[in-house]
Amino acid sequence: MTTGSFGVPTAVRGSSTAVAARATDLSKVYGEGETQVVALDAVSVDFHRAEFTAIMGPSGSGKSTLMHCMAGLDTVSGGSARIGDVELTGLNDKNLTRLRRDKIGFIFQAFNLLPTLTALENITLPMDIAGRKPDRQWLDMVVETVGLSGRLKHRPNQLSGGQQQRVAVARALAGRPEIMFADEPTGNLDSRSGAEVLGFLRESVRQLGQTVVMVTHDPVAASYAHRVVFLADGRIVDDMREPTADAVLDRMKRFDAKGRTS
Ligand SMILES: Nc1ncnc2c1ncn2[C@@H]1O[C@H](COP(=O)(O)OP(=O)(O)O)[C@@H](O)[C@H]1O
Ligand SMILES: [Mg+2]
Repeated sequence: MTTGSFGVPTAVRGSSTAVAARATDLSKVYGEGETQVVALDAVSVDFHRAEFTAIMGPSGSGKSTLMHCMAGLDTVSGGSARIGDVELTGLNDKNLTRLRRDKIGFIFQAFNLLPTLTALENITLPMDIAGRKPDRQWLDMVVETVGLSGRLKHRPNQLSGGQQQRVAVARALAGRPEIMFADEPTGNLDSRSGAEVLGFLRESVRQLGQTVVMVTHDPVAASYAHRVVFLADGRIVDDMREPTADAVLDRMKRFDAKGRTS
């Protein structure tokens, strides 16, 4: 068995015994009566450890909802959502907050950096708030992998969009989460900065053994992942391994204008 640079067994990837997060018959219904929307309709999916998974599908297909339910940012209507061995639906607010803080990293389309703090201060902010000491060695590795070593004293407005999003990725990674969720992380970036961020996300999986789940509507972004899960109308309709941009684009073309799968 080969191992990655930090002792993460490469063979673990894709093994069913190494599930970082699991949805089982997960449902989410918004509203009631006539305004009711079934955003997720009994979704079952595993996200494997040390793997980079992309989630794709037409607008309104439930991608963000799935991510929010898996990350404990939204309640579920039915079924189960697990991070590692922890069932989210059974947790009270306090434990859910703790789990989010300790086990989950988020990256959003908007970088959400604090403008008055330096890059480094932004990266360590969640840990500072939690009163936790950063693991110095890990932090150095993250900063180096993300290519920000020379930028740590800069404030967000002194950094390019791509650099700012890399700071946000480093912030999500700093606490060494079980899993990172990214919702359209390159949506605000030009293609070159987007490529930087995607390359880094992939490095964090390959070099640091992280687990990444990323929503995107861009076939090129999806081609950085090991696997693409396709959603339509709140259901999983396809699951592709080792995606290429062309294969993803072809699959996306089979969704009709209403977002249904054909
Ligand atoms: N807070 C909400 N209240 C009511 N409906 C919502 C809410 N959030 C999402 N929805 C609906 O749920 C469906 C899935 O939304 P979403 O997960 O945001 O889709 P996607 O991220 O794939 O574009 C859509 O029909 C959307 O309008
Ligand atoms: Mg969305």
